Amino acid sequence: MPSKDGSRVARVVEYVQEQHRVAAARVQFDPVFTADYRYEHTLRVAHYGRLIADEEGLDRDLCVAACLLHDVAYFACGDREGWWDDHGRMGAEISRPVLLGAGFSKEEAAAMCHAIAVHVDGKADDGFPDGPVDDVVSDADNVDRFSALRVVLWCMTEKDDLGKMAEMLRERLARLYKYRDKSPLKTKAGQRLFAERVALQIPLFEGIVRDAEITRLPAGGN
Ligand SMILES: [Fe+2]
Ligand SMILES: [Fe+2]
Repeated sequence: MPSKDGSRVARVVEYVQEQHRVAAARVQFDPVFTADYRYEHTLRVAHYGRLIADEEGLDRDLCVAACLLHDVAYFACGDREGWWDDHGRMGAEISRPVLLGAGFSKEEAAAMCHAIAVHVDGKADDGFPDGPVDDVVSDADNVDRFSALRVVLWCMTEKDDLGKMAEMLRERLARLYKYRDKSPLKTKAGQRLFAERVALQIPLFEGIVRDAEITRLPAGGN
């Protein structure tokens, strides 16, 4: 469903950009997955959220705004111990006044906040029923978590130890084979986008594992 009032989403964009600016200056992020990475991930998730919403016939503004805010807790809490498990529920708490201030109704904000709350572990503490916006946010997030760019950054976390990288990729491949057989995503568009990324990652990871396996001294006599 096309946008009813683009200014509501524009206000959410302004808020997220400001949170990113503050966090980039203040918070000690992971050296690879920086505040800039988180902001750029947010933009891509919003892009996928729009695609999925349109294909599913859902309200585009609701889905895009929820996607824009789904990881907002990273900007507020990314330097605190043990915050990750709760970043969905914390994000929902942060987002509610932002969404109401941007002009969304109470009901709309509740649906979006629920989607933000459950995107990490499927759990919310708002008593709101699960709904279709949840699936859009979760699928859009998961599509980008398996992107080509993410592969590069992800491998960089083990760039100094090829053996460890190969070990990590073998474990990753076991998961990817399962995902190839049965998609964990919920929407049709999400499943299609996810399958494209899994199909891209599998041969690449298999190739890196092979590279690691032949990175050794030649066997004696050969
Ligand atoms: Fe997240
Ligand atoms: Fe995310």
